[in-house]
Amino acid sequence: MAQRETWATRVGFILAAVGSAVGLGNIWRFPYMTAENGGAAFVVVYLLAAGLIGLPAMLAEFTIGRKAKKNVFDAFSSIGFPAWRIVGLLGLVTGFWILSYYSVVGGWVIQYLLGSFTGTYFGDPGTFFGDISTGPTTVAYHAVFMLITVGIVALGVKDGIEAATKAMVPSIVVILVGLAVWGVTLPGGAEGLAYFLSPDIDALLSNLDTIIPFAVGQAFFSLSLGMGVMITYASYIGEDDNLAVDAGSIVVLNTAIGVLAGLVVFPLLFAQNVDPGEAGAGAVFVSMATAFGELPAGELIGAVFFGVVLVAALSSAISLLEVVVSYTIDNYDVSRVSVSVAVGAIIFLLGIPSALSLDTFGLYDEIANSLLLPTGVTLIVTFVGWVYGRDAVAELRQGTGGFGSFASTWLWHVRVVVLTAVVGTLVLSVSELLGISLFG
Ligand code: PFF
Repeated sequence: MAQRETWATRVGFILAAVGSAVGLGNIWRFPYMTAENGGAAFVVVYLLAAGLIGLPAMLAEFTIGRKAKKNVFDAFSSIGFPAWRIVGLLGLVTGFWILSYYSVVGGWVIQYLLGSFTGTYFGDPGTFFGDISTGPTTVAYHAVFMLITVGIVALGVKDGIEAATKAMVPSIVVILVGLAVWGVTLPGGAEGLAYFLSPDIDALLSNLDTIIPFAVGQAFFSLSLGMGVMITYASYIGEDDNLAVDAGSIVVLNTAIGVLAGLVVFPLLFAQNVDPGEAGAGAVFVSMATAFGELPAGELIGAVFFGVVLVAALSSAISLLEVVVSYTIDNYDVSRVSVSVAVGAIIFLLGIPSALSLDTFGLYDEIANSLLLPTGVTLIVTFVGWVYGRDAVAELRQGTGGFGSFASTWLWHVRVVVLTAVVGTLVLSVSELLGISLFG
């Protein structure tokens, strides 16, 4: 079998991981979750969740991946715990699951991008979303999105994923900064900023039972945790760098880009008197389209905005596909190109129901976020904290230079704080999913 691939550079690894993290979760999901859950109050809980739970959990995935140098399934046996491969199996299933509907949204984005050039959605944004979000054309664009994803992954770790994300991530940052600077100067933009940045403490306290699981779930989704993306990406690290610095950079960049997306979305919405609380997955699409329809040069701004959303979505989709591709080429003597095409085709088929019904689509998203990802994170954190334990600490120490004691503190933080938080989130999310309120 051919030698296993590695990243060309450390920066390449970091940017690929940031590319995975930054996606629809930041630009589409984060603003609408914020709008539905009390504005800035949600943002506060999200920031805490990303730093206190997301960051240590990411490190947990890194210590598995870098040590094992294997795909998510075989990683567990490679470091001596074959029974835990079940967690890897869950990761593979989750990869199929999420990418199937994620790609449907990717297809919507392509249609919005094309519609921006001609101003097609300007007249009636609500109807446009209704027209493009389900049906045969939606299936076709879902196929286009999968094709591009397959194309990048087929090119390989260095020449595909690393090369693509190295160009994508910096352009996402530059364009979002440009849009944010322009957005806050619009009349009414400041109100949008206030909504996004000044928390209503009463609203926060009275809705903690929904805000906490949603915010923590959003942090997992946004940081691509709980399904082995970060295990897989860390398995391609060639030398022992400081993982804590890498994970810290990834979490900071991802959070900054999420906040930046909020700085673009909320001022634009308020400037056009669009209600951000309008519920549902389509909200950001319809609201942003409404805003672009009313702005001077809306075609251009719309195209730039949806262009950046598309790039962000692609750089995440490739990481989801890579989890499954990596497993297959580690185990079977097949070429990366044929595996990418075959797996891509299966995922395309799995996504068709979501491209035909918004209810099915919503259910897929809820199951992923309320069940699959929290279960995945809980198992990974339990494994790293209580089973892999000291070996994980030793792995983290490799490359940490003078910060060795930090690794033991991290382990206890994972064992107690992170584990309690993820189990709590899992319980709250599942009861939320089943419609049971645990707090009366
Ligand atoms: N992190 C991506 C986003 O925020 O859009 C989505 C994602 C990618 C979720 C990879 C999970 C994952 F494993």
